Amino acid sequence: WTATRDKSCKLPMPKGSMGFPIIGETCHWFFQGAGFHASRRQKYGNVFKTHLLGRPLIRVTGAEHVRKVLMGEHSLVTVDWPQSTSTLLGPNSLANSIGDIHRKRRKIFAKVFSHEALESYLPKIQQVIQETLRVWSSNPDPINVYRESQRLSFHMAVRVLLGFRVSEEEMHCLFRTFQDFVENVFSLPIDLPFSGYRKGIRARDSLQKSIEKAIREKPLHTQGKDYTDALDVLLESAKENNTELTMQELKESTIELIFAAFATTASASTSLIMQLLRHPAVLEKLREELQSCGLLHDGCLCQGELRLDSIISLKYLDCVIKEVLRLFAPVSGGYRIATQTFELDGVQVPKGWSVMYSIRDPHDTSAVFKDVEAFDPDRFSPERSEDREGRFHYLPFGGGVRSCLGKQLATLFLKLLAVELAGGSRFELATRTFPRLISVPVVHPTDGLCVKFFGLD
Ligand code: HEM
Repeated sequence: WTATRDKSCKLPMPKGSMGFPIIGETCHWFFQGAGFHASRRQKYGNVFKTHLLGRPLIRVTGAEHVRKVLMGEHSLVTVDWPQSTSTLLGPNSLANSIGDIHRKRRKIFAKVFSHEALESYLPKIQQVIQETLRVWSSNPDPINVYRESQRLSFHMAVRVLLGFRVSEEEMHCLFRTFQDFVENVFSLPIDLPFSGYRKGIRARDSLQKSIEKAIREKPLHTQGKDYTDALDVLLESAKENNTELTMQELKESTIELIFAAFATTASASTSLIMQLLRHPAVLEKLREELQSCGLLHDGCLCQGELRLDSIISLKYLDCVIKEVLRLFAPVSGGYRIATQTFELDGVQVPKGWSVMYSIRDPHDTSAVFKDVEAFDPDRFSPERSEDREGRFHYLPFGGGVRSCLGKQLATLFLKLLAVELAGGSRFELATRTFPRLISVPVVHPTDGLCVKFFGLD
């Protein structure tokens, strides 16, 4: 399809450059990362056009404009992932559903992330984190934190969310295939041997085969409320909503959940560890909070059962996680398509054009955040609550009807990781300086962040 202006609308088109034929500005975007959007926003304003991943699109920054896009779901815009993402996630994914089907699917998924379900996942998440930190600490060499955090979030998703019982070897194979899938989810949709897109399709087919086998072999625990994993909750929730999920739907949902959790959580975990290294005073304050709540004694975490409510009551911990997600929002924005021509910032967004709203831009530039570049968890303290001033200035999990379904789970995971790091680990940067960050496909350090972990003395 061709992206042209709506001639019936008097407003001008957004400014911007469409780059080269076919590839547009995709290469600039990959190489420049966050700087790509920032430089164009400076040059063309809050709403500008570009051409990425094989299609023309309008990039929307500025909290007010982002609000209009997110609140305009169904009326002004609807979901529109790049073709590669859409094909690889499949027609039954939430990402590809719209209107009533999307609403119905979200309702079924909501129970997977309810307070009750999270409470039942908590001990297993904690166990996976503790095992991982033990392995990291027993390694005489520094750990590549980003790479190992990907493995950690994958283990969490496969073992805790899906309850799959796979051997270490199978897990390793699944992980490698999954990496191939993720690396090619955002690729040019050119189906040729050796193209990223073809590699992604092969990885998806292989994952679906393994997942079908694991689902068929998996004991199901759908009786009663003592859930063992998210797949059980999902099946029970579907039943309560008079829906029978087909094997294809289950496979696509499973891959979508792991995909949604994988890179985002790994990115946030890496940023969390980096900030704790950069700011020892923050780590110390976290320890003091754990101590004052009776969770830390003589420098060691109490071994008793940790409850969800105790984690939620840790206010400073909450501020630290929020600030990590503000300064290092893993997802830079979301894709939509204009279902009718509308106005934004004095220019037209013509019907049929792709729209990408920005998450990172309001975090980096909004005036509601004092000293916007500083890592300052206390900005989220009850006394300051800088995020309260504008809902669409702070949106690490998106907003509106398509906001992140797994946000409570992701937050719980990060809090448990921070508790274990503050209470049970010693760790130091293994390089002389902190690495540079790149933001495609999610924020991560160029060298992965090399850190030496030690057990407690
Ligand atoms: C959607 C961020 C972790 C499941 C989203 C969106 C964002 C986001 C920004 C909205 C994208 C859009 O507007 O198009 C994050 C971040 C995470 C995280 C920053 C970690 C720090 C998770 C986890 C899960 C999850 C752990 C589940 C296991 C989902 C799902 C959607 C979604 C299913 C699609 C919702 C829909 O289309 O209705 N996430 N996410 N996310 N997220 Fe997350």
